Amino acid sequence: MDCITHVLGIEDGFGAALALLAEGRPVGVPTETVYGLAADATRGEAVAAIYAAKDRPRFNPLIIHVADMAMARAVARFDSAALTLAARFWPGPLTLVLPLADAAPVHPLALAGLDTVAIRMPQGALRDLAAALARPLAAPSANPSGRLSPTTAQAVADGLKGRIPLVLDGGAAGVGVESSIIGRTDQGWALLRPGGLAAGDIEAVLGHRLARAQSGTLIAPGMLASHYAPGTRLRLDATTVAPDEALLTFGDTLVRGQPRAMLNLSPSGDLAEAARNLFSHLRRLDAGGPEMIAVTPIPHEGLGEAINDRLARAAAPRPAPAGL
Ligand code: TXA
Ligand code: MG
Repeated sequence: MDCITHVLGIEDGFGAALALLAEGRPVGVPTETVYGLAADATRGEAVAAIYAAKDRPRFNPLIIHVADMAMARAVARFDSAALTLAARFWPGPLTLVLPLADAAPVHPLALAGLDTVAIRMPQGALRDLAAALARPLAAPSANPSGRLSPTTAQAVADGLKGRIPLVLDGGAAGVGVESSIIGRTDQGWALLRPGGLAAGDIEAVLGHRLARAQSGTLIAPGMLASHYAPGTRLRLDATTVAPDEALLTFGDTLVRGQPRAMLNLSPSGDLAEAARNLFSHLRRLDAGGPEMIAVTPIPHEGLGEAINDRLARAAAPRPAPAGL
């Protein structure tokens, strides 16, 4: 689709966004995690427009965003643990993979043929739009497939310019990495994607440890090894840096060498601040065209699990251009 991409503040653009969604068109919308590309989840042509704008493989299902628990229970079947998690963490950066409800108001294209659904009640404009439309909204992150998720309206517009009619601008996303995704496996609840809610916070409510997805098994179909990739290659756990490299660092880590550019995810060593800055710092370093982005070690605890996951994916070998 070729169109002009408008960027409007939430107050100015809310009515236009609602009208576009009612026409079955996709709109870039802020959430607390990252910006999403939202469309009416009940309509096949609306969902198809999301896949087309992102060049997303159709086997990769979308997260369904709901406004309230009544809408949530029309979409998915909640057991008592799921209800407890929703009551504690929604609206917020947690996605639950649950059995699809009978006659759920979700087009099968959004589910890629699965009988489970990834569901989330987000904070902010995306939830308000689902409430105003009175329909669930399918929304992946608003980036071209395989690229870094956007944390600003400008990043959405840069990636999807000419492909979507409107981006609502709600400022920089407060969490900065995508939602944590959990689902049931034979071993109980498992962490399918570490994200903006620390696993320990979920485990404290569940009363047990989350199983971790085995590396190599593809539980969340979107968890392809190379994902969330900037154009420049990444080198992790760096202790030295070369003059033609850019450096992404954390806290007061010392590194030998003088990089051509350097950004610190959080000079004070705060992992929430680091998550918030992760994708925007990678974008800025990438834009400078260095030979390589060297990244110093980041602690693995709390939100560090999600940060390290995204960095590992960004550093993974790239698929062939015609591939995923
Ligand atoms: O924070 C977020 O989660 C953002 C905002 C917009 O809500 N959304 C987001 O969506 O990150 P996306 O499409 O970029 O990532 C969704 C992930 C994909 O890896 C997909 O494969 C997985 O969720 N997923 C969707 N449905 C699933 C299901 N039924 N079972 C397992 N994984 C599923
Ligand atoms: Mg994504």
